[in-house]
Amino acid sequence: MIRLALVLAALMAAGRGAAAAANSITQQRCDLYQGSWVPDSADCPLYDSSACPFIRKEFDCLKYGRPDHQYLQYRWQPSDAACSLPRFNGLEFLMKMKGKKIMFVGDSLSMNQYDSLLCMLHAAAPNSNITRDSQPLPTVTFQDYGVSIILFTSHYLVDIQQDKIGPVLNLNSMSSGNLWKQMDVLIFNTWLWWYRTGPKQGWEYIQDGKTISKDMNRMTAFTRALQTWAKWVDSSVDTSKTALFFQGVSPAHYDLCSGAGWGEAGVRDCSRETTPIAAGATRGVVPLALQVQEDILRSIRKPVHFLNITAMSYMRKDGHPASHNGLGGMDCTHWCVAGVPDTWNQILSTTLLTQSG
Ligand SMILES: *[C@@H]1O[C@H](CO)[C@@H](O)[C@H](O)[C@H]1NC(C)=O
Ligand SMILES: *[C@@H]1O[C@H](CO)[C@@H](O)[C@H](O)[C@H]1NC(C)=O
Repeated sequence: MIRLALVLAALMAAGRGAAAAANSITQQRCDLYQGSWVPDSADCPLYDSSACPFIRKEFDCLKYGRPDHQYLQYRWQPSDAACSLPRFNGLEFLMKMKGKKIMFVGDSLSMNQYDSLLCMLHAAAPNSNITRDSQPLPTVTFQDYGVSIILFTSHYLVDIQQDKIGPVLNLNSMSSGNLWKQMDVLIFNTWLWWYRTGPKQGWEYIQDGKTISKDMNRMTAFTRALQTWAKWVDSSVDTSKTALFFQGVSPAHYDLCSGAGWGEAGVRDCSRETTPIAAGATRGVVPLALQVQEDILRSIRKPVHFLNITAMSYMRKDGHPASHNGLGGMDCTHWCVAGVPDTWNQILSTTLLTQSG
């Protein structure tokens, strides 16, 4: 990939548009994912969550009584002075994405990002004609722009097949690809479910190649599934039409004292967290699953933008609903909306609009 980019840059510099080539190199060098959260009460949050009709009860922290508001007043600041993260412009997004279908594919963290994007766009065009469908897939369409935002729930991306012996998670089969590839923008995510067990796991057997077993090493299974996905990208997706994104591991914040290293003795969940942790404190925190995702993404020949949100989100131990959600229970996995996923979408938008711009 890097070699190809250099060859292309050299070709472009040799011919017309040396300035454009220099520009594209600068963009590649700009790492939006290294940075810190800076207090910004003027620009944040991007919208008033009580005015957004799209937040499900799992993520609607203010509605469910979250008392502190400080978590809404941080802006992500990339540390590289050469790269800026512009403020989200919903109307520009809708106009540039005119006529396009944008689909989130993955688990409840995709749902989290989907709700956030809907609120961001709704805030930009609150009085426009917005239609909502639940069949065949949850879809919100901004009719005046012809932009549809679609949610495809899939815990594993690969298939769970109903077999005589019971449901089988087939690591080599991904039958929804034919539908996915008709989209203009795809944002994938999978990780949360790979270590889950019990009845909710959704399968009783796991198949890798010809081998069907009761269970297997979950990190290996995760790797196989991502390889299946990667093969599909390289063989089937027309990336001149469809922009691809893959969201890295979204970090949870349970058991803060042992897992995270910011040394709050005795802290067992995120319920008292009201401020982010400082940049730098997360150095060296690269979960194995993130490593697997990076390795697979590097192996893909086609362009896929890696939404490398792990480290930036890891700093936001204050961003989870905790007990302030409509399901009951402690949630230090998902994120309040408004909140951290707005920044993921801000990066998504910046990347998309720069590419198509
Ligand atoms: C909104 O868009 C839908 C679908 O195009 C259309 O049927 C409906 O008449 C529109 N409503 C308004 C108020 O424009
Ligand atoms: C993703 O972010 C982590 C932590 O900042 C970093 O170590 C890693 O190199 C990044 N990965 C990519 C592909 O940029």
